[in-house]
Amino acid sequence: MTDPTALSTPALLPVKIAGTGSYLPERVLTNHDLEATVDTSDEWITSRTGIKERHIAAEGEHTSHLASNAARAALEQAGVDPAEVELIIVATITPDTLTPATACYVQQQLGSLKAIAFDISAACSGFLYALEHAKHCVGAGAFKNAVIVGAEKLSAFVDWNDRNTCVLFGDGAGAAVILPSTNGDGKILSSQLGTDGAQAELLNIPCGGSACPITPENAKEKSAVLAMQGREVFKHAVNAMKQASVEAIEAAGLTPGDIKLLIPHQANLRIIDAIVERLEINRDDVFINLDKYGNTSAAAVAIALDEAHRSGRINRGDKILLVAFGAGLTWASAVIEW
Ligand code: UT7
Repeated sequence: MTDPTALSTPALLPVKIAGTGSYLPERVLTNHDLEATVDTSDEWITSRTGIKERHIAAEGEHTSHLASNAARAALEQAGVDPAEVELIIVATITPDTLTPATACYVQQQLGSLKAIAFDISAACSGFLYALEHAKHCVGAGAFKNAVIVGAEKLSAFVDWNDRNTCVLFGDGAGAAVILPSTNGDGKILSSQLGTDGAQAELLNIPCGGSACPITPENAKEKSAVLAMQGREVFKHAVNAMKQASVEAIEAAGLTPGDIKLLIPHQANLRIIDAIVERLEINRDDVFINLDKYGNTSAAAVAIALDEAHRSGRINRGDKILLVAFGAGLTWASAVIEW
């Protein structure tokens, strides 16, 4: 007979975020710049999304370069030598190449030659999916440390003639270093992940994969660009992020009033406002930077976390809530004691 205790999961040791970093490419594309190329206006983009500008990667600047810059900053802050990194997880839907994983290029660029490296494709929830993986890998003692990165070069995957999508997205990367928690110096208190593959077609890049390869013959009609049913995605985003937030707060044994800072996915200010209203969290306790960067998918929560941390919005002992939603559909949340 099988001994059930032999199959039980060993308790995870607590882990913490020991450093954060982010990187935005230099070039800024404003709403007014877009007025010159598509039938849109600064007024429409601002009032419907809250976005004012976004950053666009330079020619030859790939997702891995953005990711490595963010990871270096996080490692430096954590005091971890890149050569000592054991695990690199890159969350992205805009990889440098279909294979190998972008994380492999990052491993080389960082000089983290001991690390194993792989990607996660969970769209805008990807950074929090990576956090969950790292929590288990480091918490179980299998790895001494991990670098998780959300990085996107969405400018390479939008149709710049489609006003429904091209005004929404931007490029960038954010990273965090995960270490075992020692002496109660901060820890991940709870996390929740969810997926609904039945809604996959609401937001996707339909071509460029094996279901719809781009060939010399069809290259004029088919391209690898984002397609989204915005209104439907909007409704799912509000419901899923609200629910994931409630569950993570409860699982941490807290109430919304205990949350010092909410860092939500940065897709649309109206989505954030709807969540904040339903969660009864004070609007002043919400970190928002989508006006500067647009929706950077997997990078968004990671960039916001780094900016909040470096600008002094997060202090030792604060309980912060991260929540994201994206293609898949996927959603994720985490409550962290800093
Ligand atoms: O990060 C992953 C998750 N993504 C999201 O959470 C995004 C969720 N969705 C949204 O944020 C919003 O649905 C959008 C910002 C994408 C769109 O806002 P909306 O208020 O839902 O607009 P809509 O798509 O219903 O379009 C309203 C009107 C349409 O015109 P008609 O048909 O009413 O004449 C669009 O053609 O606005 C028009 N429109 C634009 N007008 C000027 C759409 N895009 C633009 C534009 N400029 N860029």
